[in-house]
Amino acid sequence: MPHHIVLIPGDGIGPEVCAATKRVLAATSVHIAWEEQPAGIAALEAGFDDALPEVTIEAVKRTKIALKGPTNTPKGAGHVSANVRLRKALDLYASVRPVKSIAGIKTRYDNVDLVVFRENTEGLYAGIENEISKNVIVSIKVVTEAASLRIARSAFEYARKHGRKKVTAVHKANILKKGDGLFLNCARRVAEEYPEVGFDDAIIDACCMRLVKDPTEFDVLLMENLYGDIISDLCSGLVGGLGVVPGANVGDDAAVFEAVHGTAPDIAGKGLANPTALMKSAVLMLAHIGELSASERLEVALNRVLEQGEARTGDLGGQATTDDFADAVIAALS
Ligand code: NAI
Repeated sequence: MPHHIVLIPGDGIGPEVCAATKRVLAATSVHIAWEEQPAGIAALEAGFDDALPEVTIEAVKRTKIALKGPTNTPKGAGHVSANVRLRKALDLYASVRPVKSIAGIKTRYDNVDLVVFRENTEGLYAGIENEISKNVIVSIKVVTEAASLRIARSAFEYARKHGRKKVTAVHKANILKKGDGLFLNCARRVAEEYPEVGFDDAIIDACCMRLVKDPTEFDVLLMENLYGDIISDLCSGLVGGLGVVPGANVGDDAAVFEAVHGTAPDIAGKGLANPTALMKSAVLMLAHIGELSASERLEVALNRVLEQGEARTGDLGGQATTDDFADAVIAALS
């Protein structure tokens, strides 16, 4: 029986990195029946009147799994982010981003190994903004006990399952005493249920400083939406940038796997994009659907190609195209 998986190519470099990842997945011999659906500007250009068509949401609800390229979100005005809406529509409350050093990619640190757990459904991304008087805007940050408890629980469950030593709750509860205070309190309560996993907390600004000084002191990082958005990009910079970090958006009923990076309009359509992040997201996806050996083989092949360095894309200082890189990974698989 094939795995039924929705492919959402998205905008900009999305279709390029999706096509390369699809080729690599085919080479693993895992039998996947793809169903392609649009989102983002691609959906509007395809004639839908919505950047996240109902047909796309329904498809992911049905298959429960999607691999997604990035989608464009206009700044300041225009449509609401298709990503934010997809996460809400499918209740994908946990954004999980493993950040690990890759042998051969020279950065300031060579032993980074941490996982960012970001609450995906509320915080400032609840999208509640009001103009309370002329030129005075109030953006509301929503923190609920239910959402805070479940993201904390998924971080601790992950830590337990993967033998992680410590969860650090990241917050600004010294200033946002009620909202972030509730988030921190929920994390503390859940921590008591997992005595085998260590727990501490860090204020977001100090945490940023400590991350750039010595990222190895962290293990699993647990935080609300906006902090998670910023910290995951910061962490990607510790291991080689946006082109190499994978992501998963996971709920109780569905999971969407996507890279951390955006549509990279500056290089879109040129065949220059680094598909590593989406391929690493596919590694997570294969593990999620129970294809553990294919997941491991693909990860080993990717790391081998990156370490050898002959098929590196421009963002990593090489000259390979997206397709050259995919070819090298396929060769390393066999
Ligand atoms: P970006 O991630 O698209 O680009 C930032 C820089 O990183 C650019 O110089 C780009 O060329 C480079 N880059 C990103 N991915 C790369 C890759 N795979 N290979 C090589 N270089 C890569 O971020 P930006 O410019 O802030 O956002 C552009 C658009 O993407 C916006 O419309 C934004 O809303 C959207 N976006 C979508 C996301 C998603 O769908 N998950 C996530 C982040 C941004």
